[in-house]
Formats: sequence, structure tokens, C-alpha cells
Amino acid sequence: MQGKRVLLIVSGGIAAIKIPETIRRIREQGAAVRCVLTEGGAQFVTPLSLSALSEDKVYTDIFSLTDEHEMGHINLSRDADVLMVAPASADIMAKMAAGMASDLATTVLLATDKPVICAPAMNVRMWEHPATQANIQTLKARGVTFVGPEEGDMACGEYGMGRTSEPAELVAALRDFFSDVPKPLEGRHAVVTSGPTHEPIDPVRYIANRSSGKQGHAIAAALAKLGCRTTLVTGPTVLPDPAGCDVIHIESARDMLAAVEKALPADIAVCAAAVADWRTADAPGQKIKKQPDSAPPALSMVENPDILATLSAAGNKRPTLVIGFAAETDDVIANARSKRDRKGCDWIVANDVSPATGTFAGDDNTVHLITGDGEETWPRMSKADVATQLVARIAATFEAAE
Ligand SMILES: Cc1cc2nc3c(=O)[nH]c(=O)nc-3n(C[C@H](O)[C@H](O)[C@H](O)COP(=O)(O)O)c2cc1C
Repeated sequence: MQGKRVLLIVSGGIAAIKIPETIRRIREQGAAVRCVLTEGGAQFVTPLSLSALSEDKVYTDIFSLTDEHEMGHINLSRDADVLMVAPASADIMAKMAAGMASDLATTVLLATDKPVICAPAMNVRMWEHPATQANIQTLKARGVTFVGPEEGDMACGEYGMGRTSEPAELVAALRDFFSDVPKPLEGRHAVVTSGPTHEPIDPVRYIANRSSGKQGHAIAAALAKLGCRTTLVTGPTVLPDPAGCDVIHIESARDMLAAVEKALPADIAVCAAAVADWRTADAPGQKIKKQPDSAPPALSMVENPDILATLSAAGNKRPTLVIGFAAETDDVIANARSKRDRKGCDWIVANDVSPATGTFAGDDNTVHLITGDGEETWPRMSKADVATQLVARIAATFEAAE
């Protein structure tokens, strides 16, 4: 990040107290930081502390004659390589989505032609509100990228999604942005599925599995890093949304299939989700009551749609490269090979998920890659490394076909 210039827009949330530390860490990487502070932001962090750490003037007022003369609201963004809004309040994102320019920060954001990264931070209900979610979708569609938020304890005493990413992650997002790693998958689109699905038994109970989503999320992040437009369709997990991906949260297998089909066309599909094979034949709208002296209810099951097989047979909508995962507990390679034939996909990544391997919840994975040319066993490595290696292989395959 040596010599790069970051315009940091600090809006009004309690997470603004993390910004002085963020500035220190960005500058340690060799980049210069200049801050714009909203009126709300100034309730949580002072211009003086941001100025002391950035060793630059802090801009707050759009109608300041001196600031306008010396710098000007247009030059603030012209002088920067990237704009980072951190923390990004619900309010500032709503204004960005609506194209408002009601103070210096929003005017700079409307007047910029530079890339914008947002790090949202807010109470879980503000985050989940349809208005905030719609604003985020609007901003993503316009090319704004997002870091976080994450799930965790909040300053307001609640727990949930909305905590801002830590300074180290904000810096990592900037490092990724500035990295001159080649982007061989630029111009491609990938759909990745991840996590478990939840199949309702009634409104309060569901059938699930032990998938953590770690492997699928890591693959989505690795694809995005190589410049691929990545749509991640994920079942319920506790993981933060990976940076640079379009993330669609679903619950059931049928929701997942609908979201995947809606995301097509795609060049690449990676089906890493542990999709439930079956769901209950009918989930009543009311909670099933425990009746005294009566037998437990019998659950009758029906088969769920097969997302991998559907994508593999999608005719002219079939992604060029369809990759499935096979989680096996015995005869891993033989079962995976027959799964590849049965589903009609191109590659299968097979792994042993017997409880003793600790694969489902753990951070490591031992996988076998089964392609039309044969099979390879990769050494045990972190799920992040499996993702990097798999995505490098995907990129090489597309390069070879060009
Ligand atoms: C104590 C306190 C904490 C707040 N924390 C947040 C927050 O974390 N995220 C958020 O979006 N708004 C939060 N707000 C509300 C914003 O400060 C408010 O919407 C403000 O208008 C934002 O202005 P700005 O976006 O121009 O900075 C908080 C308000 C108070 C009083």
C-alpha cells in the first residue's frame, strides 16, 4: 500500500472509536489517510484524534470557505485512490443509495468516480431492516464493495449481525484492493453455494446438518480475490459475509435452488453447500404440540431438489465449469467418482467428513479432486488453502481454454 491514498469517511456509530487504531494500521502499511468526519461521527471520535493520527487536516464542513478554497469537496476524492466509509452508518448508506448530498461526506461520495468500500456497523435490527438491506443491494449493484459486518455482541447489549469488522480486517480489505495480484477471472461470474440448509418441521423446528460453511465461504472469497464476480448463496452460518461477494442468505434447499437459478448465467458453479437430501412432506403452519399419552409424531420425508444435478443439466444455462462437493464417511474416492458420473458435473471435490476427522467444524480439510482426467489427493491443509488451490486450478482451466 506504499504511496497509496485512502479517503476515510467516518460516520456516526459507536464503532467510530475503532477508527484511530485503523488509521494507525493503514499508515503502518505505507498509505496516507485523510479523514472526512460526519456530524454524527464527531459525537464518537474527535477531529483532533483523527487529525493527530492521520497527520492531516480532518474535513467536516461542506460550507467551510477555507476548506473549499484550499481543497474543495471535489478534490477530496480526486486526490484519493479509494474511499472507505468506516463505520458506515445505516443513515449514510441510505443517503448514498438515494443519491443525497446533504453534508460533506455524502457530497464527496456522490461526486466521486473512485472505488468505494463500506464497512457497515449498526444494531442487528437496523441491519436486518428491509430498508437497510435494499440500500445495500442498490450500492452493491453500483459497484460498492463491503467489508463485514460480523455477528457478535454489540455495544447496545444485544447479539447479532451488525458489528463492524476489526481494524485488521479493514486494513486487509484495503491491502486486497491495492494488491497487484493478477485477476485472471475478471469478467467471469461464479455462483457458490455454502453452509447447511434448514428444512422446517414446523414454524419453530427444523432439520439441519453440521456444515459450518467455512469451505464454501473460503472458495467464494478466493474467487472474488481473483477478480471473479461472485454470488454466494449460503444457508444459515455464523460466518461473516466474505468481502467482495454478492451474498444471498437462504434457509431451505428449495430457496437455495431458486436463488442459484436466479443468479444464472454463470461461468462457474461451485456447489459446496451441504444441502439436505430430504425435507418433511408437509410442515404445518402451527407448532406441533406434544400430546400427553400419545406417540411422537412420525415425520414423513420427501426428496429435495438436487441443485448440482439441476445445474449440470441446465442446457444453455449450464455454467461452463460445474464443481460439486462430496462429503463422504466411507469409500470416499469411489463414492465421489460415482457421484460425478451420476450428477453430470465436471469436477468433484471429495472429503472425508467422519466425526474423527473434525472436518465439518474444523479449519482444515483433506480433499481429493476428481476430474475427467483422473483423481488427485491433496495433502491436509487449511480450508483457505484448499480454496486458493482450487480457484487457481479453475483460473488455469479457463486460461487454457482461451
Ligand atoms: C449512542 C449512539 C450510538 C449509535 N450507533 C449507531 C451505529 O452503530 N450505527 C448506525 O448506523 N447508527 C448509529 N447511531 C445513530 C446515528 O448516529 C444517526 O443515525 C446519525 O444520524 C448518523 O449520522 P451520519 O450517518 O451522518 O454520521 C447511534 C446513535 C447513538 C446516539
